[in-house]
Amino acid sequence: MNTSSKMFRQRVLLSILFLISRLLCPSFSVDTLSPTQPLTDGQTLVSTSGTFALGFFSPAYTSKNRYVGIWYNNLTVHTIVWVANRRHPVSEASTGVLTLTSKGTLVLTTMQNSTTILWSSAPTSMNNPPVAQLLDNGNFVVRHSDEAAKHVAWQSFDHPTDTLLPGMKLGWDLTTGLNRNLTSWKSPDDPSPGDYCIAMDIRGDPQLVVSFGSVRKWRSGPWTGLGFNSIPEMVTYSRNGFSFDFVNNNKEIYYSYEISNRSIITRLVVNQTGKTERYVWMGQHGWSLFWFTPRSQCSGLDSCGPNGVCDPFGSRMCSCLQGFEPRSPRDWDMLDGSEGCVRKQPLDCRNGKDGFVKMVRTQLPDTWNSFVDPGIGLEECQSRCLMNCSCTAYANSDVRGGGSGCILWFAELQGLAVYLTAGQDLYVRVSQLELGSSASKSSKSGTIVVIIVIPATILLACATCTMWMWRKRKRNKDEANHHKHESEMKDKELELPLFDLNVILEATKNLAPENKLGQGGFGVVYKGEMGDGLEIAVKRLSKTSKQGIDEFKNEVMLITKLQHRNLVRLLGCCIQEEERMLIYEYMPNKSLDAFLFDFGMARIFGGDHSTTQTRKVVGTLGYMAPEYAMDGVFSVKSDVFSYGVLVLEIISGQKNRGVYHFDPEPYLPTKVWKLWNEGKISCVIDPSMSCYSYSMNQVMRCIQVGLLCVQANPRDRPTMSSVVFMLATENAPLPPPKQPGFAAEGDYYERGHYETTSSNAQNTITELVGR
Ligand SMILES: *[C@@H]1O[C@H](CO)[C@@H](O)[C@H](O)[C@H]1NC(C)=O
Ligand SMILES: *[C@@H]1O[C@H](CO)[C@@H](O)[C@H](O)[C@H]1NC(C)=O
Ligand SMILES: *[C@@H]1O[C@H](CO)[C@@H](O)[C@H](O)[C@H]1NC(C)=O
Ligand SMILES: *[C@@H]1O[C@H](CO)[C@@H](O)[C@H](O)[C@H]1NC(C)=O
Ligand SMILES: *[C@@H]1O[C@H](CO)[C@@H](O)[C@H](O)[C@H]1NC(C)=O
Ligand SMILES: *[C@@H]1O[C@H](CO)[C@@H](O)[C@H](O)[C@H]1NC(C)=O
Repeated sequence: MNTSSKMFRQRVLLSILFLISRLLCPSFSVDTLSPTQPLTDGQTLVSTSGTFALGFFSPAYTSKNRYVGIWYNNLTVHTIVWVANRRHPVSEASTGVLTLTSKGTLVLTTMQNSTTILWSSAPTSMNNPPVAQLLDNGNFVVRHSDEAAKHVAWQSFDHPTDTLLPGMKLGWDLTTGLNRNLTSWKSPDDPSPGDYCIAMDIRGDPQLVVSFGSVRKWRSGPWTGLGFNSIPEMVTYSRNGFSFDFVNNNKEIYYSYEISNRSIITRLVVNQTGKTERYVWMGQHGWSLFWFTPRSQCSGLDSCGPNGVCDPFGSRMCSCLQGFEPRSPRDWDMLDGSEGCVRKQPLDCRNGKDGFVKMVRTQLPDTWNSFVDPGIGLEECQSRCLMNCSCTAYANSDVRGGGSGCILWFAELQGLAVYLTAGQDLYVRVSQLELGSSASKSSKSGTIVVIIVIPATILLACATCTMWMWRKRKRNKDEANHHKHESEMKDKELELPLFDLNVILEATKNLAPENKLGQGGFGVVYKGEMGDGLEIAVKRLSKTSKQGIDEFKNEVMLITKLQHRNLVRLLGCCIQEEERMLIYEYMPNKSLDAFLFDFGMARIFGGDHSTTQTRKVVGTLGYMAPEYAMDGVFSVKSDVFSYGVLVLEIISGQKNRGVYHFDPEPYLPTKVWKLWNEGKISCVIDPSMSCYSYSMNQVMRCIQVGLLCVQANPRDRPTMSSVVFMLATENAPLPPPKQPGFAAEGDYYERGHYETTSSNAQNTITELVGR
């Protein structure tokens, strides 16, 4: 008796409160629904800061059906992010009513018939007055009316439609069995569940899978610690203000994302064709498609069947794993790789004689049937794989910090692909016979580079070149040929992807003039776009350059070794017929010339045609930090060194030519440093500097910064950001520069770390030996 009268009073009180709030805000812009106040068609709930709204809507096109949904309140494009009654719309003839029962269940009925329930949320066991509130993140929650209780009885985030908002979880609550997944709309006019669903597949190593009925259409690959294996671009997106989260423990397995920058509005959606798309709101430009799957013919897909390897940039997309051959050679020749490959040599597991071949930069095979042990390393992973005859491959489960954990595969490898720059190592089980033939190929040792350009006649260069191209075309045919092995060996050493000429031509629209970015002394640079949206810069070396193929490769290798995060990334090269091309990552907003023709490249490729080919390589050394030239240790500070040399060159107006101990001209940094200490620094300043209105103070400061950059010990050199700071401030005191590198360390070349003999271009022996 007592309680019911109390409840009655409470209801009256709430009703009065509601009335007051409605009088004050006639537009009904509240964010909560209570048992006494249903929401009828025409009314909306709006979250506190006005980001999201909940109410009745009809899809954009012809349908007049009414649905309860959530959309962005403030965007000029009506964008639905959640629908309650996907399957059972309110017909045009009726008026929908959304009610919160006193037990905390949301119920959708119509004014015309309150007994037919079109949709309801799951019953909850609340014994206190509930409220339903639309939160600012787009979540519609049923909770205790006392917010402090913090008990959420039901939430729309647990029942997603086709959209994943920041903070939503895509995956499983293992304790309740809740499986949160996204299902596409049937059509833009019909929000009922469509054909495609993206869900967390928790078998094996968990991954997101887009399925069409029971067919797996796309998979994200397992979480590697940094992102999903089949979505390497995630790593860079985290720099754009996205933070990705993957939780895998015995209570939950889910993926979610957050936005660190509040002003970014973004959503992930699975569309009617099964593509997962990420949109970002661009203000007056509306929604911009930021990303979608799949990014290429290989990524996240199984294009080449069991034991096939997909390579989007290869001359043909599908090839077989080492030790395997096409199951159906005819289809294979017709470029249909879906049948996959079969083993050439059976495994000899019983005698424990199998081994593994290492594949670098892979998109891992499908992990649904794999086994994961996060607690063991690669070595134990290998021995576990060897112990079980059905184990086919293994890899690290986490790539961070050099790799840890173990994934083992127990079936044919599906959906394997290779990346240009991303991916991780995979170890594939092969028979000993296969291993024997590959052992000779991987003769890599601890040395950094051992290049021997055999005294070459043009004839041999051409022969090698032809051989190489021939091998590339027929790389699926098993031809045991000595020369082939030899060239394969070099190929391995190169470890740089070879692009097919046709792929490059397609990307640059046949090297169209409008794609031209610039021109240097030794070639034209074009912009291009790969099939997967990757933007590239293609440097086409002019045909007048008479480089042999090996020499070209050597030099490409040198750049590869030099490249790191402060430089433009070299993605690969293309050597076909007459063409020699270098393919770089395209850097928007940055003068490509600045990268390609100042540091390294220009010197390596001999912007100065009067010098001999040997000289070209040596010329680079003038810019090379001593620790790199000596030990092959290249760090951020090595770039600072090169920068310092440039600064000194610019101010002195002199080229840094002296790189040999017997060079008539002394090494520029040493020269400047000596003059600096002798107080005769004004001798070194380029007379033409006086034409500009620079204060002596500024010039001196530049010289001092230059000298700080070329100091012998990398640790003494400033970072690039402090260089900027030093140059930007006029009066902050600078430390006195210590002795520059190279001269301080004596003569590396004399000590034999770098040897260059002869200057005859056709008869050069170049040896770069690290220690
Ligand atoms: C809604 O839009 C208006 C005008 O575009 C803007 O001033 C306001 O800050 C926006 N509010 C939210 C919550 O985005
Ligand atoms: C409501 O709908 C149900 C089922 O369609 C029907 O049986 C019932 O008669 C309807 N009630 C009214 C008042 O129209
Ligand atoms: C998606 O979630 C629903 C509801 O939990 C479930 O019935 C369905 O099987 C899930 N689909 C997939 C592909 O996991
Ligand atoms: C947040 O994003 C906006 C728009 O993209 C940008 O202008 C702003 O600089 C960003 N703020 C931060 C702190 O990154
Ligand atoms: C689905 O997404 C893909 C990729 O963004 C897009 O090309 C396609 O037009 C979309 N289809 C529909 C029906 O929205
Ligand atoms: C090999 O691994 C599979 C899959 O985990 C397992 O079913 C099988 O029992 C194992 N065999 C042996 C001999 O351990």
